[in-house]
Amino acid sequence: MSIIHGNQPKVVKGIPVQTKNTSGYTGLFIPGPTNIPDCVRMALNVSMQDMRAPDFGELTLPLFAGVMRVMRTETAEVFLFPGSGTAGWESCIANLFSAGDRVLMSSFGQFSMLWVDMAQRFGLEVEHCEVEWGLGVPHQHYREILQQDKHHRIKGVFACHNETATGVVSDIRAIREILDDLGHPALLCVDGVSSVGSLDFRMDEWGVDVIVSGSQKGFMLPTGLAIVGVSQRAMERRTAAGLPRTFLSFDDMLKANATGHFPYTPATSLFHGLRASLEFIFSEGLENVLARHTRLAEAVRAGVQAWGLELCAREPELYSDTVSAIVVPDHIDSAEILKTAYYRYNLSLGAGLSKVAGKVFRIGHLGNLNEIMVIQALGGAEMAMRDCGVDIELGSGVAAAQSLFIGNPQQPVRKAA
Ligand SMILES: Cc1ncc(COP(=O)(O)O)c(C=O)c1O
Repeated sequence: MSIIHGNQPKVVKGIPVQTKNTSGYTGLFIPGPTNIPDCVRMALNVSMQDMRAPDFGELTLPLFAGVMRVMRTETAEVFLFPGSGTAGWESCIANLFSAGDRVLMSSFGQFSMLWVDMAQRFGLEVEHCEVEWGLGVPHQHYREILQQDKHHRIKGVFACHNETATGVVSDIRAIREILDDLGHPALLCVDGVSSVGSLDFRMDEWGVDVIVSGSQKGFMLPTGLAIVGVSQRAMERRTAAGLPRTFLSFDDMLKANATGHFPYTPATSLFHGLRASLEFIFSEGLENVLARHTRLAEAVRAGVQAWGLELCAREPELYSDTVSAIVVPDHIDSAEILKTAYYRYNLSLGAGLSKVAGKVFRIGHLGNLNEIMVIQALGGAEMAMRDCGVDIELGSGVAAAQSLFIGNPQQPVRKAA
């Protein structure tokens, strides 16, 4: 707003642009970056320090241990690369596979699709199962392909644990069971960008070899860290792998990390934030964090049902507890709902991506979130939908969530995970 001219409509290149209310704050209900707890935000605000100082490991070494706790592993190596989840994907491919290696992958949403694209660009020979969006990892198809692979040419089996574009969660343990049943030695590589720290994920128990995550979702930090866990089994195979890697080299990282240092300038302020976010997670208790996500997701789903709308995820067992993709009626463009929510009600909802652009909008319900925030998201979505001509009853979704919440406070599962 100009002090001299007041709040005039903004014009860019001759085109009037809608402007938001400047009072209050904008509700953030996208599935990442997520809302950052105040204690984490304050922890990020540190003076810069010498990353080569002899005591730098006092800050960083406990972070590896904390991330291992969140990933539920006692033996994996943890890597903290400057980057985002995409860099984590790349580190997995570049360190563990060679051009021409066969890998088994599936796509059923924007993110699983992009990982396939990356593997192909790296020259891997991808056995690609294309699945209808709204479904998840095709376990039966995976079993059949692996069963036929008598000579174990398939070196890696990839899976997206939580497809953020469609709100679909897949059963990772079941993939491990297939591999074990068949005695197949392929590495199990999992995208946990929107699941780690928010959904039940068990690296050791499920025999996961690589788990890729990022800082801006369940870890409730700004974007900037690729957070990757790698099993010892996978680490042993890296010497045989032959793709070039420098910035994302596991070897270079491992060597420097032994003393808590890094092979190049690390994102120090994010490490301070990560320390605070791990403390935040463990003070609530990881089990309680997961239970809270389930409870809040159930409230969102109750709201969607009350609106008479459907989720993109086809079956209840596929429903994600971190993000819901809501299908809008055929004659409505979901992008209009997003714009209305943003400009009129200061509410950021998640866009429909790629194949489901215009067809769904998403409510991200992960990270630093509570009941009243869910009510805010549902209430704002209702107003925006009504403004855009969706025939829902105002207050119906909010009331459904409220009925789930009232008189039914969340019980802590146990004191600490
Ligand atoms: C499931 C999933 N995988 C990978 C990515 C890519 O991560 P980034 O955007 O941090 O590179 C995302 C981003 O939203 C995601 O949701």
